[in-house]
Amino acid sequence: MKFLIATEKPFAPAAVKQIREIIENAGHETVLLEKYTDKNELLHAVSTADAMIVRSDVVDKEVLDAAGNLKIVVRAGAGYDNVDLHAATANNICVMNTPGQNSNAVAELVFGMLLYLARCSFDGSTGSELKGKRLGLHAFGYIGKQVAKIANGFGMEVLAYSPSLALNPEKGKAFNVTAVQSPGELYEKSEIISLHMPANDQTRGSIDYDLLSKLPQKGIVINTARKEVVNEADMLRIMEERPGFKYATDIKPVNHDKMARKFGNRYLASAKKCGAQTSEANVNAGLAAAEQIVKFFADGDETFRVNPIK
Ligand code: 3PG
Repeated sequence: MKFLIATEKPFAPAAVKQIREIIENAGHETVLLEKYTDKNELLHAVSTADAMIVRSDVVDKEVLDAAGNLKIVVRAGAGYDNVDLHAATANNICVMNTPGQNSNAVAELVFGMLLYLARCSFDGSTGSELKGKRLGLHAFGYIGKQVAKIANGFGMEVLAYSPSLALNPEKGKAFNVTAVQSPGELYEKSEIISLHMPANDQTRGSIDYDLLSKLPQKGIVINTARKEVVNEADMLRIMEERPGFKYATDIKPVNHDKMARKFGNRYLASAKKCGAQTSEANVNAGLAAAEQIVKFFADGDETFRVNPIK
């Protein structure tokens, strides 16, 4: 079988080497398409692939329709909003993700960004400490839980909201986390919010003025989830209204230039989405993806399937 690794933002070379070994030791062939800038390159490469490993690469209906032999796509990472699940099901293509594999990298970045904001971009002016601050985790999956563990180390008070945690608040106890019953309650009780939800019909634009205004005047929001979940116009408005409000994200907002100009060191956006961009996370997620595909072909294992069967 032909395994296409299609990564506009490549895996670390050490990860690529080990992914190749897994594929080739199982008797399959590797095709590598990295740093492509034109969708036609992807359409051409996928046309002969049996399996594909991607990151945030857009795998839409056009890509899936161009892939006559494709049986499986694995998103090496958590969020699979970049893959058209409906078109994949229609084409009998199995879609999987690799949950949890890159969560530590993202969780560590949250604290990198948080310290940068809390310490005034390290410009020497008086900042504030994390110890004793109330951190609200909006969503509580693999990444949220990892952030909670690190936050405990900083001596923060951790609260969390997710629909499933609200139903089973006891589940927060193992992480020293207080479960709350609604997003509104989370923002009312927190000083700092870290976003960890997927982008879907329920979450798109859901971090809006109403929620943000429940935070204190000097509230902080860290977004390493998805750009789409934040209502950018509302974020801009709250930052204009509150001179102490701070926002950091690793997914550049559409109005990035305006925000950078207006808010100086109260605002931070990384040049590229970099939460999972560590060699450790690339190895974890990339190898898991390759192994999942090998098992899928060997014995039909669909453990991490995320799309319905036709
Ligand atoms: C994910 O959903 O796993 C993260 O956002 C990482 O995405 P990336 O592989 O594009 O860095």
